Amino acid sequence: MEEERLVTSTRDDTETDVENVLRPKSMEGYVGQDKVKDNLAVFIAAAKKRGEALDHVLLYGPAGLGKTTLAHIIAAELGTQIKITSGPAIERAGDLAAILTNLNENDVLFIDEIHRLNHNVEEILYPAMEDYTLDFIIGKGPSAKNVQLPLPKFTLVGATTRAGMLSSPLRDRFGVICRLETYSDKELAEIVRRSAEKLNAPIEESAAEEIAKRSRGTPRIANRLLRRVRDYAAVKNHEYIELSDAKASLKMLDIDELGLDAIDIKLLTAMAEKFGGNPVGLDTLAATINEDANTIEDVYEPYLLQLGFIARSPRGRVLLKKGYEHIGLKMPENLMDKFVIYGADNENE
Ligand SMILES: Nc1ncnc2c1ncn2[C@@H]1O[C@H](COP(=O)(O)OP(=O)(O)OP(=O)(O)O)[C@@H](O)[C@H]1O
Ligand SMILES: [Mg+2]
Repeated sequence: MEEERLVTSTRDDTETDVENVLRPKSMEGYVGQDKVKDNLAVFIAAAKKRGEALDHVLLYGPAGLGKTTLAHIIAAELGTQIKITSGPAIERAGDLAAILTNLNENDVLFIDEIHRLNHNVEEILYPAMEDYTLDFIIGKGPSAKNVQLPLPKFTLVGATTRAGMLSSPLRDRFGVICRLETYSDKELAEIVRRSAEKLNAPIEESAAEEIAKRSRGTPRIANRLLRRVRDYAAVKNHEYIELSDAKASLKMLDIDELGLDAIDIKLLTAMAEKFGGNPVGLDTLAATINEDANTIEDVYEPYLLQLGFIARSPRGRVLLKKGYEHIGLKMPENLMDKFVIYGADNENE
């Protein structure tokens, strides 16, 4: 049953079940990302009208912003099946060939973490995406033969948190490229309200807004915080989740009013006190606060960059004025002029 194994998502964290419950099933339920939604709506409508497969779609952006959710919605809107796999799950070219030959016409094939595909697997994907054919070689040496098999027309939806790690031949074969953005507080509050409804946990407007503010622009975090706040309110026997429940429980969880946790604070504090605000490399910083460098880069840094608390300079990460202020310190005068310039670059990160 090799195929079964391949087409399951590799993610198996404990959140998967509840995430599936909270996942909106249609474009209407998918909050925010208006540009992406408008774009996709046009392409989906056109594909349906022509009775053809939708062009291949690449979704990229940080974790928890709704890539997997959107892939499911695309298939639902197209009225087709979705098959789910991921880059690391497809080990050999033959694995991908088996998946491709089992698709039905117009199906969606969702490949999560597509930047982690093996090179030889990727090679199979090129002609499959371009001409809907499976190209392979049978035999070795002079008797080797090139074989081409027609495939059903399908739509590849690829998701990645690291668009920069995608090879350019692969990236070039996507007709639609969508970059997901972090969500505004207003959008996150809307997501919290809808999730609360699905969880049968009525919530006060102000409590939803409070959770939204502390969710780092990320729906997954908003939903996670909501569940913790809901549990707290339940213990207090509150019929509605109140603002005070949100404040008290998030305080207990060490999440501050901007959504920073103990590790963010540790990181900012180390930059100020251990390195005196001077540029510091990622690995050095990671070792100092005893955290994994990848975790810092993927989980903590993006939001701190977005807040303008830190910046990347050619010589390493630097702490900016706002970062100092958040931990109750003042940026040394001599560093002000030196590093203020990097703050302006943050948007490009
Ligand atoms: N636009 C949205 N509206 C409502 N809920 C959303 C939206 N985007 C994401 N969510 C919720 O956030 C959770 C995480 O979303 P999802 O799993 O799609 O993120 P992802 O981008 O695939 O993350 P990863 O990179 O880790 O795979 C889901 O439970 C989903 O319900
Ligand atoms: Mg996902």
